[in-house]
Amino acid sequence: MKIGIFNEREGMERRVALTPEGVKRLISQGFAVYVEKGSGEGAFFSDASYREAGAEVVPTPQAVVSSVDVLLRLRMPTLDEVNAWPEGKVLVGLLQVWRYPDILQALERKKWAVFALERLPRITRAQSMDVLSSMAALAGYKAVILAADHFGRVFPMLTTAAGTLAPARVLVIGAGVAGLQAIATARRLGAQVEGYDIRPAAKEQVESLGAKFLPLTLDGSGEGQGGYARELTPEEQAKQREALMAYVARADILITTAAVPGKPAPKLITQEMRRKMKAGSVIIDLAAETGGNCEESRPGEVQEIEGVTLIAPLNLPAQLPIHASQMLSRNFLEFLLLFRRKEGSLTLHVEDEILRATCVLWQGEPTPQSA
Ligand SMILES: NC(=O)c1ccc[n+]([C@@H]2O[C@H](COP(=O)([O-])OP(=O)(O)OC[C@H]3O[C@@H](n4cnc5c(N)ncnc54)[C@H](O)[C@@H]3O)[C@@H](O)[C@H]2O)c1
Repeated sequence: MKIGIFNEREGMERRVALTPEGVKRLISQGFAVYVEKGSGEGAFFSDASYREAGAEVVPTPQAVVSSVDVLLRLRMPTLDEVNAWPEGKVLVGLLQVWRYPDILQALERKKWAVFALERLPRITRAQSMDVLSSMAALAGYKAVILAADHFGRVFPMLTTAAGTLAPARVLVIGAGVAGLQAIATARRLGAQVEGYDIRPAAKEQVESLGAKFLPLTLDGSGEGQGGYARELTPEEQAKQREALMAYVARADILITTAAVPGKPAPKLITQEMRRKMKAGSVIIDLAAETGGNCEESRPGEVQEIEGVTLIAPLNLPAQLPIHASQMLSRNFLEFLLLFRRKEGSLTLHVEDEILRATCVLWQGEPTPQSA
């Protein structure tokens, strides 16, 4: 089976779907790999390192797509790209397919199979392929570093000859993958950290990282299906905002990561709440891609509003391109092995929960078919 990767550097993007190490491992499993020239440059992987790993480095995207069976992508291709592609291949990636119905239709017309990895179920067997969790962990880490960079004070308590500097108070709202990593990172930097989530199960995880869990209670449980949070009613949201107000007001750094699968980000931080924060405080709204947890957030922008810095970053993992590519490469490799474990040829087994959950199109059909 032949696998292809593209040079996807555009805007902030510096990640690549396979590292030379990943290529080596795929080749050792009987795959062949085609790499568009320059694909790894943003993550400091040279064409020579891909060649050494055994890949074929080709000059254009068209040369990749015409040589391979399976294309790996970090984002959905454009309509122009798909229109120029041959028929009947396989696309695997972080595709956000719901955003691009016209591109999906073009892939359907061309009888492509499409697997969207953001649909991976969060089950134990899929953990090694879970691209969203990999990227969320990096984003949680980087959110704290970004906050520290914009904060006019230090994080740890420092006792110096010029006096004692108080530690920063960090509040992390939403203690899923990104939130827990943000809590762990802020703790490592010596801050006093508080965490909050509407799922009661998060309390133990927050406390195990040495942070304090906010003692706020909802009337019902915040847990929905599959261990994820449920969407709160407008009344519950209003109560939650009121209960959070005092904690937000005393935080120096506020990191919001609250998310409910398939829904816009819950609006947790109002203008009134932000106004209660001290001048010099910093907010990092990680939920910016799905609309933001703060009502004043502008996705991709850094704003200073009445002394509070409000940052709503997009694609933070691209700022850690080496580790992000390493994690993506491992995730893609494990996913590709799902095909190989079954008889060696490219086969979709609908009984495989992971393939069924991620398959958007199979041979141009929206419903997965066993081949
Ligand atoms: N900006 C970036 O570069 C970047 C990168 C990766 C992830 N993200 C974003 O970070 C966010 C978190 O990702 P994740 O993988 O950690 O998700 P996750 O599902 O693991 O965690 C989200 C958490 O939010 C909690 N939550 C939901 N509603 C809440 C509410 N009303 N109050 C408090 N907590 C609530 C959930 O219980 C859950 O624990 C997502 O919005 C994701 O898109 C951003």
